[in-house]
Amino acid sequence: MRSVAITNIGRLVTNDQSLGAGLLGELRDAALVIEGGRVAWVGSSKDAPSADHGIDAAGRSVLPGFVDSHAHLMFAGDRADEFAARMAGESYSAGGIRSTVAATRAATDAELESRLASLAAEMRSSGITTFETKSGYGLTVEDEARALEIAARHTSETTFLGAHVVPREYAENGAAGVDAYVTLVKNEMLAAATPHAKWIDVFCDRGAFDADQAREILLAGKAAGLAPRIHANQLQHGQGVQLAVELDCASADHCTHLTEADVEALAGSKTVATLLPGAEFSTRAEYPDARRLWAAGVKVAIATDCNPGSSYTTSMPFCIAVAVRDMHFTPEQAIWSATAGGAAALRRTDIGHLGLGARADLIQLAAESPIHLAYRPGVNLIRSTHLAEDFTN
Ligand code: NIG
Ligand code: FE
Repeated sequence: MRSVAITNIGRLVTNDQSLGAGLLGELRDAALVIEGGRVAWVGSSKDAPSADHGIDAAGRSVLPGFVDSHAHLMFAGDRADEFAARMAGESYSAGGIRSTVAATRAATDAELESRLASLAAEMRSSGITTFETKSGYGLTVEDEARALEIAARHTSETTFLGAHVVPREYAENGAAGVDAYVTLVKNEMLAAATPHAKWIDVFCDRGAFDADQAREILLAGKAAGLAPRIHANQLQHGQGVQLAVELDCASADHCTHLTEADVEALAGSKTVATLLPGAEFSTRAEYPDARRLWAAGVKVAIATDCNPGSSYTTSMPFCIAVAVRDMHFTPEQAIWSATAGGAAALRRTDIGHLGLGARADLIQLAAESPIHLAYRPGVNLIRSTHLAEDFTN
């Protein structure tokens, strides 16, 4: 099996507290040996065993690749004018999703795939080595199924989000139209999506779906073999977070508006709170305070939420910087949340850390300290991004 040794690592983030210091399990002057694409040895650079191939990190920092557990990359068109109007004082609403739905339905498969591939390449250059992506801009049986079929060629973390918003042709018929759409999502659309999806998600919020509708849809998804996650409490206080805990969702995403009871419910559960700094940034919303979550012992992830409406960024370093500045994460907490936290939000144990046996998905920073990710906002510090497969051939 081919082995690769990375030596002279100034600061190595392992996220394995049995290997190094603090939350990030950090080692100084470290080395890492990879065999068959997996971490096989971690220790002091001077003790590194020999390997088939060597990489000299020259004092730079090495981290696990970022795990982006929440993105919406299957869409066409953009909403730059809507963003500009918002910066001039308009407020964000779920209804904007419908304009992306129209553009997405009109796009060819090739257009959708090339858009996805270019966003995925942007993510890779920002240090993201695993990304999740959702459907949710097709909202017909055929358009949701094709979005997921295309997405599944690029990631194993695909999420069926037929319940993103009620499409115009159903919303026009009032309550009966909404009921008919929920029935469609739970039955025919779910059946068409399931072969290409791992997860099911619902946007449970003002202007989208209420908690009863979300529960029905997520339970139908669970019965079909999909694992649940939720867009919860983005636009207002609501029952989304409590529902996430009730259904053992892997993650409750957004968590912008949280009561003490929501925080307590998350703390007593396996559900991760995924915060999306790009969304508050781009909708000029109030930021949630991550200190409440960390103090209560909640597991927290940070993700990009890349989508054309509320957060059109593929940059995890940007999200880390905003999380530190405006959500009051410490730099260490933000780095943990963008790596190990994202992995927990996808219920993965093989990524998000560089402990023994982990996939060797990793980033070399153009800086000695990982704190530079927040300290030097807007500067591209990702010197290289590697997937485990890069080390096997
Ligand atoms: O996660 N909140 C719901 N969905 C997306 C935004 C979708 C859009 O505005 O197009 C989000 O922020
Ligand atoms: Fe989202």
